[in-house]
Amino acid sequence: MTTLTVELGERSYPIYIGSDLLGQADLLKKHIPGNSALIVTNETVAPLYLEKTQSMLSGLKNEAVILPDGEKYKNLEVLNQIYDSLLRNRFDRNTTVIALGGGVVGDMAGFAAASYQRGVHLIQIPTTLLSQVDSSVGGKTGVNHALGKNMIGAFYQPKAVIADTDTLDTLPDRELSAGIAEIIKYGLICNAEFFGWLENNMPSLLTRDKDALLHAIEVSCQTKADVVAADERESGKRALLNLGHTFGHAIENAMGYGEWLHGEAVGAGMCMAASMSNQMGWMSDEDTQKTINLIEQAKLPCNAPKSMTTEKFLDLMSVDKKVLDGVLRLVLMKGIGQSIVTDDYTLDDLNQAINLSLAA
Ligand code: NAD
Ligand code: GLY
Repeated sequence: MTTLTVELGERSYPIYIGSDLLGQADLLKKHIPGNSALIVTNETVAPLYLEKTQSMLSGLKNEAVILPDGEKYKNLEVLNQIYDSLLRNRFDRNTTVIALGGGVVGDMAGFAAASYQRGVHLIQIPTTLLSQVDSSVGGKTGVNHALGKNMIGAFYQPKAVIADTDTLDTLPDRELSAGIAEIIKYGLICNAEFFGWLENNMPSLLTRDKDALLHAIEVSCQTKADVVAADERESGKRALLNLGHTFGHAIENAMGYGEWLHGEAVGAGMCMAASMSNQMGWMSDEDTQKTINLIEQAKLPCNAPKSMTTEKFLDLMSVDKKVLDGVLRLVLMKGIGQSIVTDDYTLDDLNQAINLSLAA
């Protein structure tokens, strides 16, 4: 097992990464301060891992709430099922909410923990590649709104993240690729060497080679932990973690939440950011082509969906959380491993990038 730390002073917490962690009851129990816990999971993950997780909680009062599965259920209405369960079961302020599942479950359980009785303890047990490399770490929680992705939420850090890599054995291939999108993101934003490693090891990741997956998860979590420690509430550097996301969130919303997976939309969004950076003369042809090649190699889409329009993109991108005082900041690239957050582009640059992607 590897243990990394998100350094946030007295709110610092460990990220445990390794095989058979759901078989180690102490790992979970030592991070539960009280005598009760609510497991939040969904109808796909429950039959696979709920019993195992519950058996780690022997001696504690524990219940489970099983949500419907899917991005389209990541909303305030379904969130209420978690509050219902917490209240019906008389869970008090010292209870621990355990998120067992992918990023949707993690974001919803996290927001419930942040808001129930103004905050109860939270532990993340991520079971998708995407949630193990990204969403379970760093404390962003929340739900979608019909008019914008992840628009309602809170920063709320967990007490621990337990990433059992064995859970990835049951993950569908399409979800594996979606997770790889966020892994590629770390290379593109700040780690050219890791990007090179990914170019050489993509076939191993796609065939789920355990060592390759472990290395990719460790580097990703360490990168995210460093960024979050430097800028927990995204007043600066953390915005880099949104590379491809402004385009991607627009795609997710326009297509109907869940039609395109989050990682797929981020994949296409990173290609759009790369070609916009290239067309502005910021990123070389070579680095742009390498970016597109790696994203395609990961079996991710690289172009915007044909059913979208430039107007739709611009409309949805204008509600992005990186809009400050009415100005949309984008994450663009000066090269592989050299991303920047900037408003130094023209509307023409943006229009051209969207039009090119729609026409491809
Ligand atoms: P997801 O939670 O929808 O999970 C993907 C699918 O895999 C679901 O059908 C799920 O039930 C299933 N699943 C989960 N674990 C499984 C397993 N071990 N075996 C088989 N099936 C399994 O999607 P995701 O990709 O994990 O997360 C995407 C969400 O995360 C989006 O809502 C996105 O906005 C959010 N996100 C949040 C952050 C953050 O910092 N909080 C970062 C990135 C993404
Ligand atoms: N996934 C973006 C962030 O956590 O900041």
